[in-house]
Amino acid sequence: MAEPFKLNLLQRPRRLRRTPALRALVEETVLRPADFIAPLFVVDGKAPPDAIASMPGVFRLNVADLVKECRALWKLGVKGVALFPKLDAKFKDEEGTQALNEETLVLRAVRAVKKAVPELVVITDVALDPYTTHGHDGVLNAAGDDVENDRTVGILMQMAVLQARAGVDLVAPSDMMDGRVGAIRNGLDASGFSGTGILAYSVKFNSAYYGPFRDAVGSAQAAGTRLLSKATYQMNPANRREALLEATLDAAEGADMVMVKPAGPYLDIIREVRSQTHKPIAAYQVSGEYSQIQAAAKLGWLDLARTRHESLLAIKRAGANIILTYFAKDMAQALR
Ligand code: PBG
Repeated sequence: MAEPFKLNLLQRPRRLRRTPALRALVEETVLRPADFIAPLFVVDGKAPPDAIASMPGVFRLNVADLVKECRALWKLGVKGVALFPKLDAKFKDEEGTQALNEETLVLRAVRAVKKAVPELVVITDVALDPYTTHGHDGVLNAAGDDVENDRTVGILMQMAVLQARAGVDLVAPSDMMDGRVGAIRNGLDASGFSGTGILAYSVKFNSAYYGPFRDAVGSAQAAGTRLLSKATYQMNPANRREALLEATLDAAEGADMVMVKPAGPYLDIIREVRSQTHKPIAAYQVSGEYSQIQAAAKLGWLDLARTRHESLLAIKRAGANIILTYFAKDMAQALR
């Protein structure tokens, strides 16, 4: 009988994986409920929660139900929500004028949430896509073939001031117009809102992963296609250096936090932005990332709880400090 094969190894990394306690001691990344921000969709009226077909487990909520959901999230240790309105088609037009109506849905929702759960961090998107018939994030030029940068920024600045007045903690420009962070900062300061912060969607790619979100807010319906190209303002997924440029510009213009979006397919970008800025980094695990996990789990191809956890752990490990995710509530529950 030959001797069993033996390696003469000095380094055996498996030693530290031998027991659960050893593994816990050397664990480098831990998720906690306070890491997450829950994106929530709000609708007018009194209808019961309205399921979004392409986002299993996510609902459009009326304002009263939204307030209940915010209370539940706060109790579970989730510290922030990002609110997205789905407007009736009759409130949409070419210029997105409802965005500047003090009584528009999302502002009523903010006031209701802030009244009920004042400590919860409330975030609103600054972009025109829920309000425009064409579904773009800004207003179009005369030819109707591109979004006009400066005119859009002028509108976004007013929109941010209205959101601050309604009581949001952070405004989140998601439009990718040039110069909007600086303009919004100036606009807020000039209106007496120097304490309202800016969570800038600094590195936002022109991504196919936004498809289900566009179903959720009806911007696809308005535009006639959920894969409307936003390539003249959102970034080319091929670009890494440009991502660092965008993050640098937004930080210099006064962003309090910078965001990378989507998250999972762009972990390299999160890591590089992390090594370049001292600002907190948010990453948005977008609708398509959520829905692909849900879909595979429904088919029995992936374990939902484990895949969900791993997908978020990877985003945090890459360097994100805050994660926007549709799994926020489930994760907060699972982590208890
Ligand atoms: C639009 C906006 C989008 C998302 C957040 N804000 C989509 C888009 O740019 O069309 C996407 C979020 C998601 O997919 O979950 N300003």
